[in-house]
Amino acid sequence: MKEKRIGFATRMGAIAATVGSAVGLGNIWRFPYQAGVNGGGAYILVYLLCIVLLGIPIMMSEFIIGRSTHKNMKGAIEQLTPGSPFKIFSYIGVFGALLICGYYSVVCGWVIEYLWSSVSGSLLESNPEQFPQIFTTFIGSPDRCVMWTLLFLALNFLVLSRGIQKGVERMANIMMPLLFALLIVFCVNSLLMPDSTKGLSFLFNINFDKLGWKGVVDAMGQAFMSLSLGVTCLITYSSYFKDDSNLMKDAVTISTLDTLVAILAGIVIFPAVFSFGLDPQAGPDLIFITLPTIFQQMPGGTIWATLFFILLFFASITSTISLSEIPITFLIDEYKFSRGKAIILTAVLMTVVAVLSALSFSTLGDITIAGKNIFDFLDFVGPNFFMLLGGLVTAVYVGWIIKKYVIHDQLTNGGMHRSRFVQPYITICLRFISPVAIIIIFLYYVGLI
Ligand code: PHE
Repeated sequence: MKEKRIGFATRMGAIAATVGSAVGLGNIWRFPYQAGVNGGGAYILVYLLCIVLLGIPIMMSEFIIGRSTHKNMKGAIEQLTPGSPFKIFSYIGVFGALLICGYYSVVCGWVIEYLWSSVSGSLLESNPEQFPQIFTTFIGSPDRCVMWTLLFLALNFLVLSRGIQKGVERMANIMMPLLFALLIVFCVNSLLMPDSTKGLSFLFNINFDKLGWKGVVDAMGQAFMSLSLGVTCLITYSSYFKDDSNLMKDAVTISTLDTLVAILAGIVIFPAVFSFGLDPQAGPDLIFITLPTIFQQMPGGTIWATLFFILLFFASITSTISLSEIPITFLIDEYKFSRGKAIILTAVLMTVVAVLSALSFSTLGDITIAGKNIFDFLDFVGPNFFMLLGGLVTAVYVGWIIKKYVIHDQLTNGGMHRSRFVQPYITICLRFISPVAIIIIFLYYVGLI
């Protein structure tokens, strides 16, 4: 008999930790830069559609798989459908999580560098025109990039070694509401900028000419990235949920909060981009160029910058913790590792990926895969391949394979809540809309459309 798993202490704690997983650099760093390179409004519209038609139903599916069995994906599939070949796909989640967490930690390292230079006051000393150059010089310096990335990973695994309840839940409970409040302050600040309306019309005017298939792929991958879908993260987290949590309500609450944070981040960034004549298409550099410019014109800029990067750090670490928990829980459940050993093996593997990614802008800059450096390649295949494939498998598995009564039982907690509207909605999305949409994207990749 397996030892009893510790769960989250309260419903709020479970939600806060899952929001902590969802809200991270995906919302604040990746969403604005992706919206920027894909032309704004139309990308955001497609993104929102993906959240409603793919994201929320797949989130509910992951919750159903995890909470009904209290196991990781592989164990859960063995329990729900013994002998099913679907369990092979749990390796995609574990592998995807290692790759994603590897390159993601590099951006977390960038956040620490900016936190450090905010605290020391050097960040805001330069002219705004120098910010792009400062960022390029920084990511081009191998030792600083690697050092911050390693420091970040060390902190990440330190929190993990303290166990799920104490570490993750406590931190998420405090940091998430604070981050939200700070973003609102920054939004107001940005909306008061001279060219804020240009920024807003970039964000909300829908113009499909600029989107194209690539934009659709990006929006879909970003929706999965932002909601932490497709790499079995939410299966793992919900395996720790209590049996009386309301999965429908939780999925809608988490997705709404997550989407709100992304949109707020957009409203912070783009008015500033247009007011200061920055390039909306700057790519991954975008927030690291725009934010210092914003802080510089705020009274008490250094304090705001410090506070912001501290909160961004916490938002990031609650995400990397959830990513790391995927291989850790997998090794414990499936290979009977002790938690300590599982943490060590996961840490070693992630560190290798992280160091390779951190060096992609300097020492390993010449290594390219499909025309991209290692970091950019992982930033592409993580969300746009691993997460989408995982999402496809989850949608098909819950939509077509598992017994209907399991879905009903989980959504209604054995008949305690009503799911008259929710069940048909997720069934249609899981059976038809998600698989068709994701398969179309894969056909596009291989050049068939
Ligand atoms: N959702 C997180 C973010 O937006 C990233 C993440 C992906 C976390 C997958 C866990 C699993 O930053």
